Amino acid sequence: MLITAEKVGATVSDVDVRQLDHDGARQLAQAWADHGVLFFHDQELTPDDHITFAERFATIDVNKFFKAVDTHPQIATVLKEADQEGNIGGAWHTDHTYDQIPARGSILLAREVPPTGGDTRFADVGAAFDALSPGLQKTLESLHAVHSNEHVFGKASDYSKRDDRLGNPDGVGSATHPVVIAHPQTGRKLLYVNMAFTLHFVGWSVEESAPLLQYLYEHVGQDQFTTQFSWNVGSIAMWDNRSTWHWALNDYPGYRRLMHRITISGDPLAAAAGASS
Ligand code: SIN
Repeated sequence: MLITAEKVGATVSDVDVRQLDHDGARQLAQAWADHGVLFFHDQELTPDDHITFAERFATIDVNKFFKAVDTHPQIATVLKEADQEGNIGGAWHTDHTYDQIPARGSILLAREVPPTGGDTRFADVGAAFDALSPGLQKTLESLHAVHSNEHVFGKASDYSKRDDRLGNPDGVGSATHPVVIAHPQTGRKLLYVNMAFTLHFVGWSVEESAPLLQYLYEHVGQDQFTTQFSWNVGSIAMWDNRSTWHWALNDYPGYRRLMHRITISGDPLAAAAGASS
């Protein structure tokens, strides 16, 4: 198995993830924590293989909002039909920040891809945090933020009525997390806000929070902190929700794209050392 570092994440080659032994799984878990996102190609996984691979790392966090594969409730479908306009994940975000214990990450496997387009962008929120001035870092380390999914999956949301969603308004919730967390495995400082689910800083109004949040979104989205992954059938991206953001590009009108996603349960989050908890 060869692990090659990229600008963001790492590519894993010379591996068939169905054949991983204990040492191989341990090496991958370490690389996942260190690099934030791992990319693979040419993996021929059945749904059972996909589940077995995911369970090498932790238990599965069954998604409450996406339709599952009929025979495998642990696998969520991320589907855009040829005649559909909106896609799932079409803006910078990271998954499940509205949960008290957010998911560790996801293992996304390409089943059907358009002839061109349909790439996914990834951003490194650790490198982006490191590049901020010490003054802003210190301010951010003193803050917490409120995250919710009510506006995305709640009763009033259009999304809950879409064909690619289950529509589960009772599953909505919110949580408060430090704005700068320590990665549970590496201790690295990470910026933990995102466009999709962060509402405001604790003690600040939505209006007061918006300019600083917007600044952070633009900062993280800069070229030096991001990469773009192109999919073939059998490609996998395995991302860490604490240390990366992702964005599914919606640039393939008229074509179907089908991905299978397994989300892995996470660990309680803590503020980075030196921050207020
Ligand atoms: C997601 O946000 O989980 C979907 C990513 C993708 O489809 O590339």
